[in-house]
Amino acid sequence: MAIERTLSILKPDALQWRAVGKILARLEEAGLKPVAMKMLQLSQKQAEGFYAVHRERPFFKSLVAYMSSGPVIVQVLEGENAVAKNREVMGATDPAKAAEGTIRKLFARSIEANSVHGSDSPENARTEIAYFFAQTELVAYDWTAKR
Ligand code: CMP
Repeated sequence: MAIERTLSILKPDALQWRAVGKILARLEEAGLKPVAMKMLQLSQKQAEGFYAVHRERPFFKSLVAYMSSGPVIVQVLEGENAVAKNREVMGATDPAKAAEGTIRKLFARSIEANSVHGSDSPENARTEIAYFFAQTELVAYDWTAKR
């Protein structure tokens, strides 16, 4: 299986719930290695640009307002099949439909305030990663050390 990279966002509700540590632990335990990470307060323009594919959707305005309502953590996760793996660990977009044990089932408040974002294809992952990170901000390190 291919080593992929995917863009992950911990959304404002995740920070407000103090769920950041728990969410990062779940991603780490799933074998998704963080290779870039930063905390940002998105402007309305940045949120609109990131979600431009959804601009015709009825929820677009509300989504942009929500995503720029408080800080987020953006990160790049790397691993085998990282795009699909991240989506599996996140669970369905709507927490009411998310499988037991998934991040959204455990932490999300609503279909909009759903705690996390993950790229939906390797191609979109490349675009989304480039939206937030320069190539030089992605690091390489060994994370297989034993204590
Ligand atoms: P995300 O995976 O980041 O991709 C688009 C986001 O739009 C989604 O998570 C939700 O935060 C939001 N979203 C998707 N569908 C709806 C909906 N029906 N109503 C409100 N927000 C939605």
